[in-house]
Amino acid sequence: MREIVVAGNWKMNKDLNESVSLVSEIKNQLTENDDVKVIVCPPYTSLETVSALLKDTAIGLGAQNMCAEDSGAFTGAISASMLKSVGCQYVILGHSERRTIFGETDDLINSKIKKSIENSLIPIFCIGETLEERESGDMQNVIERQVKEGLRGISADQLSQMIVAYEPVWAIGTGKTATPEQAQEVHAFIRGLLAEMYSSEFAENVVIQYGGSVKPDNAKELLGQPDIDGALVGGACLKADSFAGIINPV
Ligand code: PGA
Repeated sequence: MREIVVAGNWKMNKDLNESVSLVSEIKNQLTENDDVKVIVCPPYTSLETVSALLKDTAIGLGAQNMCAEDSGAFTGAISASMLKSVGCQYVILGHSERRTIFGETDDLINSKIKKSIENSLIPIFCIGETLEERESGDMQNVIERQVKEGLRGISADQLSQMIVAYEPVWAIGTGKTATPEQAQEVHAFIRGLLAEMYSSEFAENVVIQYGGSVKPDNAKELLGQPDIDGALVGGACLKADSFAGIINPV
């Protein structure tokens, strides 16, 4: 049985005080639910403080990005070991905003995934097509390229804890959600690719989250699909009640 994993990607929101309030409210609102793994991904500046607040809870901590290098003259960058040192267990890599706004390539994302694994950080590896790619019939090629390039040279053993997040770019922050059937179709396709690349046993065990305008009122139906194992939540994770509303009805 695969675990259900719901992660909140705070993006560039919440200063330190606001982060403290949000994480405290999340802690208060979550009811005991051993069936769902919850992860929060605040901005870098709040990681250490949030980490301390999450001590003695089952909530995991993730960063939203990291550098593929270990250390050195990379002004403004944050390394995997720095993330580990403030208590991160996860890191979001390949988010579509990193790909489109910051020009991250499949190759760079591949290096980051390798570096995260080397440092025992679990990657939340994001992939997804744009509306144009979907409408032109290119969706499967795009997903296949992102998966194969992103995981190039990485063995099944190294990826034993990876999380994949399928996030159609046209559904991120737009209020438009993929229908459960649309999402399920792509999730099954991704699982099939992983089975081809590794093994069906490996593919059966990989958690594949859906992301893109997930809210309390659509979460249950999306997460009810056989190949959807959780959600990567943006906008709706910035308020404790809507984040809890996604987690608790699961
Ligand atoms: P959204 O963002 O829930 O605001 O659409 C999801 C994401 O970017 O991870």
